[in-house]
Amino acid sequence: MVSASDLPLEQQVALLSGATFWRTESFPDQGIPSAVLSDGPHGLRAQNPDLNSFGLSDSRPATCFPPAVTMATTWDEELVEVVGRAVGVEARALGVDVVLGPGLNIKRHPCGGRNFEYYSEDPLLSGRFAAAAVRGIQSAGVGACVKHFAVNNQESHRMVVDAVVDERTLREIYLAGFEHVVTEAQPWAVMAAYNSVNGEPATASPRLLREILRETWGFEGLVMSDWSAVGDRVAGVAAGMDLEMPSSRGLSDDDVVAAVRQGRLPEAAVTACAQRVLDLAARAPGEAAGSIPVDVHDALARRAAAAGTVLLTNDGTLPLNPTASVALIGAMAEHPRFQGGGSSQVNPTRVTTALAALESRGATFTHHPVYDLQTGEAGRAEIAAAADAARAADVAVVLVGLPPVVESEGFDRADLALPPQHDALVTAVAAANPRTVVALSNGSPVTLPWADDVAAVLECYLGGQASGGALVDVLYGDADPGGRLAETFPRARADVAADPFFPGRPHQVEHREGLFVGYRHHVTAEVQPAFAFGHGLSYAAFDWSDPRLSTDAIAAGQDLELTVTVNNVARRAGSDVVQVYLADRTGVVLRPARTLAAFAKVHLDPGESRDVTVVVPARAFQFFDVAQQRWQTPTGEFGVEVARSSVDVVATLPVTVNGGVSTSSEPADGPAVAASDADFERRLGRPVPTPRPVRPFSRDSTMSEIAQTRVGAAFRSTLWRLGPGRAGEADPTTQEAVTRAFEELPLRAAAALSGGRLRWPAVDALVDLANGRPLQLLGGAARGANGLLRRWGGR
Ligand code: BGC
Repeated sequence: MVSASDLPLEQQVALLSGATFWRTESFPDQGIPSAVLSDGPHGLRAQNPDLNSFGLSDSRPATCFPPAVTMATTWDEELVEVVGRAVGVEARALGVDVVLGPGLNIKRHPCGGRNFEYYSEDPLLSGRFAAAAVRGIQSAGVGACVKHFAVNNQESHRMVVDAVVDERTLREIYLAGFEHVVTEAQPWAVMAAYNSVNGEPATASPRLLREILRETWGFEGLVMSDWSAVGDRVAGVAAGMDLEMPSSRGLSDDDVVAAVRQGRLPEAAVTACAQRVLDLAARAPGEAAGSIPVDVHDALARRAAAAGTVLLTNDGTLPLNPTASVALIGAMAEHPRFQGGGSSQVNPTRVTTALAALESRGATFTHHPVYDLQTGEAGRAEIAAAADAARAADVAVVLVGLPPVVESEGFDRADLALPPQHDALVTAVAAANPRTVVALSNGSPVTLPWADDVAAVLECYLGGQASGGALVDVLYGDADPGGRLAETFPRARADVAADPFFPGRPHQVEHREGLFVGYRHHVTAEVQPAFAFGHGLSYAAFDWSDPRLSTDAIAAGQDLELTVTVNNVARRAGSDVVQVYLADRTGVVLRPARTLAAFAKVHLDPGESRDVTVVVPARAFQFFDVAQQRWQTPTGEFGVEVARSSVDVVATLPVTVNGGVSTSSEPADGPAVAASDADFERRLGRPVPTPRPVRPFSRDSTMSEIAQTRVGAAFRSTLWRLGPGRAGEADPTTQEAVTRAFEELPLRAAAALSGGRLRWPAVDALVDLANGRPLQLLGGAARGANGLLRRWGGR
C-alpha cells in the first residue's frame, strides 16, 4: 500500500483535486486506485464517472426514495437507516464508492430553496437522521459524504455569501447536527460548503475544518469541496481541505507546489491531505457488485413515503370508505411531483401515480387534471368543472402543491403561497363538496388559507417514485399516515424570526435571530404557527399515562431517562411519536422556551400498550460557553416536557440539575432577535462586519457583478454562449437553476469549471481590466486576457 510520503510533491498535489467530475485521481501503475463519487441523498444520480459534466437529467436509473424532508417527517431512525442501506446497496450495484449525502443543513427559513433536501429546522433531528442515513449507507460497504459544512442555509448567492453568526448559535444550531453525525456515525467524508462562515471560506477555514471538525470532534475521514467551491487552494490545503472537486485540470497545482517550495505551506500539510485521498480510495470497494432489487426498493420507497405523510387535519372523512366514489382532482395525480430540482434529482426506476394506484385498487373515480403542471395555472372553466365533478362524487381528493420551478437547488422561494389557482381550486371544490380531502406535494412549508374549510389535509411532501401508491395507501387506511412535522408551518413569512435577514445581501447574511430558528422562536415569542413543529395526527388514537423520570436530580454530564406508557386505544394499528422537550428555568443563559431533547417512534397494534423510554442526553441540558470555549451545564431547575408537538405539552416533570455553573458571561436576558447593530455586536463579540464591496473586482466577483463593466459584460456573454447557453434543452426548473447559478458564479469557479481553458493569469487580467487598470502596463497578464477573450469569443 503506497503512502503519500513516498510520492514526489507534484504527485501528492495532483491527488488533491479530482480526475473528472465524479472520480478522484488515480495512478494505476503505482497501485493507486480512484474512488467514484455520486449524488445523492435520496437515491443515486450516477453519471458516467469519466465525464466532466453535472449531467442533471441523464443519470442511470436508481430508486428515488423520498427526499430528506419526507424522511425526517417519519421521525423514524430505523426506517431512515433501512432506506440509507438501500441507497448504499444501489451504490454498490452502480459502482459508486461514495454517496454525496445526506445533507443536513438547518432550515433557517421556510423559503430556503433546498429545504426539501434537508431534514429539519432542529439540530437534534437533523443530526440523528443524518447519523441513521450514514449508518445505513455505510453498512453496504460504501462511504457517505455529509454536506454542506457549514451554515449553507440558503441558495441565494451561496457561492459568495459570508454567513455572520455568533459562536453560541453556530455551535448549538448550525454545527450541532454535524457534530452528532461525525461523532456517532463516522462518515467517510464531509463536504465543505460554498459559502464563507464569519469571514473564512468554508473550503479554507482552519476554524471549521481543523479546530472544530478534526481536533474537537476527532473526524478522521476526508474533506472534499462542494463542486467548484474552492478559491484559495493553498489556504484550503493548510486548513485540511483534502480534495477539490470536481477536477479543475490542475488549476492551482503550481500554486500549491510553489507555496511549499517557498516555505509558505508545510509539505506535511500536503502529505496529510494526499494521504486522506489515498485512504478514501483504499476503502472504496471499486468494482460494482450486485444489482438493484427494483421491486423490493420500490416497495420500501412506498412504505417510507406513507410513513412520512403528515395528517394535518381530519374530521373523520379519512380513511376513505372503500366503496365511496371519488372525484380525483389535479394534474399531479397523473404527473406526480416527487422530488426537487438540482443535483439530487434521481432518474427513477419506475413511477407510481395516484391515478394508477387508484385504478389498481379498483376504486370508482373520475379524474380532472385542471391545472398546468409547470405553471400551476388553471382556467375558470376547468375549476368550475372540477367543482361539478366533486359535487357529483361522494368525496373529492384534490392534489395541489408547488410547481417544480418554484423549488430547486440554486435559488430560494419568493414566498410561502401555493399558486393562486391551486388555492382557488381547493376553495371551489370544498364549497361544492364538504367531504374534500387535500393532498399536498411540496418540499417546504406553504400557507393553506382554506385549511379550516376542508375535511382533511394530508401533507405528502415529496414522496419519491412511489408517492402515488403511498398516497392511495394512506387515503384508504392501508397505511397509517405516520408523519409528524419536522419543521414549523408559519402563518405568514413575517412570523419567521430570520425573515428580515434572509437571504441578506449578496456578500453577507446576518444571523441576527441567533438561536431562535423555527419553533424556538414561535414558542418563545408565543407566535401561533399554522401547524406546529412535531404536529401530526394518526388514524389510531393513543393514551399517554404515568410519565416518570429515572431520577429527579442529575449532575453535569449525566443522561436522564423518561418513561411514559403509550396505549393504542383504537381498533387499528398505528404509530405515535413521543417528543420530549426541555425548558431551562435556571436563568443562567438566554434560551428558547423549549427545545427538543429526545423522541421515540412507536408502532402499536390495536389495544397494545407499551412503556416507552427515551434518553435525554446530558448535552441537551448544556449550552456552549463562548468565553470558556466549552459546553457547560447550568445549575437549577429544568422542566422536562412530554409532548405531542412543540405546542402540545401533555405533562411537565421538574428535574434539578447540579451543573456547576450558576453564572455565565453569556447574557441571561436581552432580546431574542438582535435587531439593532448594538445587540448583534454584543452577541458576536465584535463589530458587525462590513460586507465585501462589489468594487474593486476580484477573483470572487460574480458574472453579474463583472458584467457591470464593458469588458466584463463581453466576457460574461461569451462564457454563457460557450457554456450553459450551449447546453441545449433542459426542463424549465433546470434552466432556471442554471441561469441563476451562472449569474452568481464567481470568476474563480468559472476558471475551475472551464476544463483548463481559463487559467489564473487570464482571470487576473480580466479583473485588472474591469478595475480600469490600463492593459499596456500589465504585460503578460494582459496578453493572457486578450488571448482568452479572442479564443473564447472566436468559437
Ligand atoms: C451541490 C452538492 C452536490 C454537487 C455535485 C453541488 O452543486 O451543492 O450538493 O453534491 O453539486 O453534484
